Amino acid sequence: MNLTRRHVLRLLGASAVAVPAAGLLVAAARDRVDTVGRVAFTNRLQAPPLAPSRLDSAGHRVFDLRIRAGQREFVSGRPSSTWGVDSDYLGPTLRARRGERVLVNVANGVDETTTLHWHGMHLPPEMDGGPYQPIEPGATWSPTWTIDQPAASLWYHPHPHGRTARHLYRGLAGMFLVDDNPVPGLPHRYGIDDVPLIVQDRRLDGGRLDPDEPMSGTTGFLGDHLLVNGILGPYLEVTTTRIRLRLLNGSNARVYDFAFADGRPFAQIASDGGLLSTPHSTRHVQLAPGERAEIVVALTPGERVVLRSASPATGAGLVQRDGGDDRFDVLELRAAPTLTNSPELPDHLAALPPLPAHTAVRTRTFELAEHHINGRKMDPSRIDARVGKDTTEIWEVRSGDGTLHTFHVHDVQFQVLSVDDRKPPPELSGWKDTVLLPPGTRMQLIMRFADYADPHRPYMFHCHMLYHEDQGMMGQFLVLDPGQAAAPLPLPGGHPSHH
Ligand code: C2O
Ligand code: CU
Repeated sequence: MNLTRRHVLRLLGASAVAVPAAGLLVAAARDRVDTVGRVAFTNRLQAPPLAPSRLDSAGHRVFDLRIRAGQREFVSGRPSSTWGVDSDYLGPTLRARRGERVLVNVANGVDETTTLHWHGMHLPPEMDGGPYQPIEPGATWSPTWTIDQPAASLWYHPHPHGRTARHLYRGLAGMFLVDDNPVPGLPHRYGIDDVPLIVQDRRLDGGRLDPDEPMSGTTGFLGDHLLVNGILGPYLEVTTTRIRLRLLNGSNARVYDFAFADGRPFAQIASDGGLLSTPHSTRHVQLAPGERAEIVVALTPGERVVLRSASPATGAGLVQRDGGDDRFDVLELRAAPTLTNSPELPDHLAALPPLPAHTAVRTRTFELAEHHINGRKMDPSRIDARVGKDTTEIWEVRSGDGTLHTFHVHDVQFQVLSVDDRKPPPELSGWKDTVLLPPGTRMQLIMRFADYADPHRPYMFHCHMLYHEDQGMMGQFLVLDPGQAAAPLPLPGGHPSHH
C-alpha cells in the first residue's frame, strides 16, 4: 500500500487528540494565516547570485564569504535590520563539482559569535560548521574539504549553540549546489531554467521584519508573510517550456505543501541529497524545515500560474496551532509569449544503490519529545552515540509527544528504509538528510558513516524545528576508527550567553 506522507499526516492528525491545555491557549491566540489570492506579485524574483570563486595554486576552489549586518527593504521605504552573507539578507549560491577540493573563507562581520554549517555535506567534522566551529566577531574560519557526493541542492546556515533560530531568522542562509556529470534532458542553466527558491515565512510589522523572532505554536516561529529568495510578493519570468525549481524550506518551523493553483502535475526529480532514480510525477510536494526538493514544471507560452502552499494536515486540530490551516501564495510563474523548447525529461535520472538492511551493524532508536531526544537534552559534555567509521547503521526515529518534529543528521545522506514498516513513498525514495516526523510515525533510516573519523569532534543530529533545536532537541555522535577511544573536546566558548 502506498500511503503518501500527506495521508499519513491526515490519519494521524485526526486520531491524535491529546492536545495539552497550554497548546490550546496558544492556538486561541494565533490567527489563521491565508494569503491565497491576496498577494500582488509585484517584485521580480531572481536566482541568488553565484558566489565568485578562484582556483588557488594547489587547485582548490576558493570562496570568500563575509557575514554582515545590513538593512533590507522588504517593503519599499520600510527598512529592516537584517543579516546576510555578502548581502543584506541571505547569501550567494556556492557551486562546486564532485571531486573538487573547496576552501571557504568565512569572515564574521557581525557583533555576535556565529557559525556557518554546510547542511547535507559529507565532510570531516571539523569542517562541518556546527557548534564546535564558532567564528568570533572579526575572525575568519577557513574550512576545506573534497566534495565527494552526488549532485545535490545543499545549503548553508548558522549553527551556534542555542542561537541558530535567531541567526537564521535574521537572514543567514544560502544554497550550496554540488554538480556531478550532467544528466541530459535536465534544465541546468542557472537563473534561466534552473532556479533555487529559498522559502521563508516571516513576521512583518508595518512592513518591517520583527527582529525578535516572535514565538507562536509549539514548533517555534510562524510568520504571516512569505519571502522567496528574500523577496516579498515575487514573480518569476520563465522563458523555456520547462523550468527546474530547487525548493528549499529555509523557515524556522513551518511545514509547506507546495502545489500549483490549477493543480497541474509536475515532476519531482530530486530530494535533499540528490536526484531520484526516476522522475516522480505528482501534484504537490511537502517540505519540512531544512528539506529540499527539485521539481520540473511545464509551462505554455504567455500563461501565468501561481505556486501555493497549503499546510499538509488541513483540518487536523492538533496542528492548527502549528500552522496546519495556513495557506500561502508563494510565487507567480510568468511565461513569456514565446518560449524556448526544453528537452523531454529523461526516464532515468540517477543510480540509487540501496543500502540493504542486512548490512547494518546495529539499530539505534531515537524518540523526540518535549525538547528532548530519548529523554535527554543536548549536553555538549555527553556523547550520545559512538559510530564505527565505514559502518552502516539503522536509526529508527519517531515523535513521541503527539506533535510535529523533524530529524536531521550531519555528515551523511541516508535512505528511508520504512515508514511504519511500509516501503517509503516515491518522494522519500532518494537520498535524504532531513525528514518530517508526524506524530506517531516511526521511520527507519539507514546510513553509512564513511571516510571521516575523529575522536575529538562530534557531529550533530537534531530536530530542524529551530526552536526545538535551540531548546536542546539535539544530540552528538562521534565517528571512530576501530579501536579508537572517544576523547571529545569541550564545546568552544562553553555555555552560550542568552541575551
Ligand atoms: Cu541544517 Cu544541524 O542543521
Ligand atoms: Cu522538534
